[in-house]
Amino acid sequence: INSPVKLNNGLTIPVVGYGTFRTPADVTEQAVSNALKVGYRHIDASTDYGNEQAVGRAIHHSGIDRKDLFVTSKLPNDQRGYDSTKKMVQKSLDNLGLDYLDLYLIHWPATPAHYGDQADQVNADTWRALEELYHAGKVRSIGVSNFLPHHMETLLKTATVVPAVDQIEVHPGWPQADTVKYLQNHQITVEAWGPLGGKGATVLTNSTLQAIGAKYGKSNAQVALRWILQQGIIPLPKSVHEDRLRQNMDIFDFQLTTEEMTTISQLHDLGGQCADPDAYVFWKPED
Ligand code: A2P
Repeated sequence: INSPVKLNNGLTIPVVGYGTFRTPADVTEQAVSNALKVGYRHIDASTDYGNEQAVGRAIHHSGIDRKDLFVTSKLPNDQRGYDSTKKMVQKSLDNLGLDYLDLYLIHWPATPAHYGDQADQVNADTWRALEELYHAGKVRSIGVSNFLPHHMETLLKTATVVPAVDQIEVHPGWPQADTVKYLQNHQITVEAWGPLGGKGATVLTNSTLQAIGAKYGKSNAQVALRWILQQGIIPLPKSVHEDRLRQNMDIFDFQLTTEEMTTISQLHDLGGQCADPDAYVFWKPED
């Protein structure tokens, strides 16, 4: 389960990624350096997080071969559309100091809440730009984030490249089982943002997760990440603490039973963001 998985275009991706959302720019370089030091090879960045240049510095200072890294970035929400998507990919490459990205995602779908009846067209135009960048080799795989099945259905009507990835919010208490099933049936790899529930969640203190973890000598965080992994989903945990970084990678030496998987899937009311992509008019990093 620790070996990299293949995306629908044949590219391999490490099964745990390091998230950089809400990591302040001034601590990001150190945090990403620590992550690379303890063995992360998959870094999930975004222009909207305001720390992409710091991610780039950490990558360069690490001395790790570019081909051994998997680097993702995402389109800022105020830059959707054909022309600006092309500019933004170049901006990410410049910020990161790289000549290609392994994965680039539409961060949030354009929705009628902001674009009225143009929303579908904006997503289609954005995707067309990404397809061209993909064929040009600037981006080795392309995908989306926060797309629910209905956004995907619409995109697939005009897409000529099926998204390789959909990065959605998944954590105990917010399993999004129907969306996960839909995506996996379409050979779209699911990545989980906020795998520990994020702001305001009780995943880290929940007693059911604690009891399961006690059996394996694992923390709530490790149980939550393992539950994600065993569903074939790629978790993107983040921490600015080195001990936690290590802990979040130390999830390959135990196996949750089918019963434990079900118990965790049925937990609810654990708080967390539980974002509704259709309700976002304009997502900003501070949200
Ligand atoms: P910190 O950087 O202070 O360690 P997420 O948003 O990914 O669900 O995670 C929420 C927060 O949980 C992270 O920002 C991180 O904060 C904290 N965290 C990460 N790993 C662990 C862990 N193994 N144990 C406890 N807290 C963790």
